Amino acid sequence: MSWGQRKGRALWPAAVVASASLMLAACGGDDDDGGDGEGAQEVPAEEASGEFEFFSWWTGGGDSEGKQALLDLFQEQFPEVEVIDAAVAGGAGTNAQAVLASRLGSGEPPDSYQRHAGAELLSDIRDGFVEDLTWLYEEEGWMEVFPESLLEQITVDDAIYSVPVNIHRSNLIWWNPAVLDEAGIDGPPGSWDEFLSQAEALEGAGKTALTIGPLWTQEHLLENVLLGELGPEAYAGLWNGETDWESAEVVAALDMFIQVLGHSNIDQAAADWQPAIDPIVDGDAAYNVMGDWAWAYYETVQGLAFEEGYNVTESPGTEGTFNWLSDSFTLPVDAPDRDNAIRWLQLAGSQEGQDTFNPVKGSIPARTDPDESLYTGYFQMPLEDWSNADTAIVGSLAHGAVADNAWKGEIDSALQEFVSSGDSAAFAAAVAQAYQDTRE
Ligand code: GAL
Repeated sequence: MSWGQRKGRALWPAAVVASASLMLAACGGDDDDGGDGEGAQEVPAEEASGEFEFFSWWTGGGDSEGKQALLDLFQEQFPEVEVIDAAVAGGAGTNAQAVLASRLGSGEPPDSYQRHAGAELLSDIRDGFVEDLTWLYEEEGWMEVFPESLLEQITVDDAIYSVPVNIHRSNLIWWNPAVLDEAGIDGPPGSWDEFLSQAEALEGAGKTALTIGPLWTQEHLLENVLLGELGPEAYAGLWNGETDWESAEVVAALDMFIQVLGHSNIDQAAADWQPAIDPIVDGDAAYNVMGDWAWAYYETVQGLAFEEGYNVTESPGTEGTFNWLSDSFTLPVDAPDRDNAIRWLQLAGSQEGQDTFNPVKGSIPARTDPDESLYTGYFQMPLEDWSNADTAIVGSLAHGAVADNAWKGEIDSALQEFVSSGDSAAFAAAVAQAYQDTRE
């Protein structure tokens, strides 16, 4: 099967692009100059020296290996460059985002930094922190090799400001097959209702039904319970004002989230996503909902085999839907080593770069022309689903695709209260209100 242009039904890009344009218009954003401090729009010479500082949150097991593979390739190609790996620990960038904000705010950007593609980059664009990279896309022929729907999603007022290195999938449930066997369970739940009944059996067998970590992992679970309960259309509408957060359906889905959490180890929530997986590896717990970076942890860090030591499928109720996110890299305005940053972006956007990074990271390439022989085992599922015309494509809240930073910040705070109060109506009202407030 040829990888080809992806044809999945994208249900969310309009929301991001529309809110991006509104936001930039409101702030007087200018299409043409893209901010001060932009350098020559030219591919640098092959001979490189000096430094290159790359900023990310990829430090822990399973997160750092993909990054290292790409940094090693960069170093191999540019042996005279001193590579500085400026990573700040904390899954999903929870700690890195704050450090980055202060560096950008004080005019001390790294040479390139990681951001999620989509709404998360909007404030950097508005604040003039990142260069317009449209010229690099044209230079490298990327307009032809990145899927059209993805390009639409990262285009803001006719310009593109980041290079997506991958596609990760959020809506996945991972489990330990031996634990299900022990509890007499045939397979993973097809709905959250079914999860609730399985949870009783698992708990009866002395197991934790679902493991959880810090707030962002709870948000990751929340988005996928909402997706499973509401379906892709209504879920997509949550992010563009078309689905009423305070409707009976959404409040019922939020109630389901609270019930699901009631069968987790939230009282002893793990410090990050990797330790949330450990009880599954150890045979003490059955399930965990996490993106496919978990693949790298099961396979590379724990040395487990797909379908034997661990297994994975779509999270309950989300078959036929791909909840999407992407890691992308930027060229900050006034990057101290701008030529090296451009060399890094060239590599990250290249076929060689993406095929070096993704089979280690647990993601599939953002480009449409990967060497498919590198993507076996678990990777077959996302490869097929991402390119299937019948797949519904929606974007991730927890990983920056659908809500801009202002709104997401409010959702994060409301969620913190929600997981302790369990008050679905109050959470729905807070999120709906924050949407209005952050549009103004
Ligand atoms: C996501 C990121 C992934 C992975 C994960 C856990 O936000 O996109 O690449 O790093 O966090 O840290």
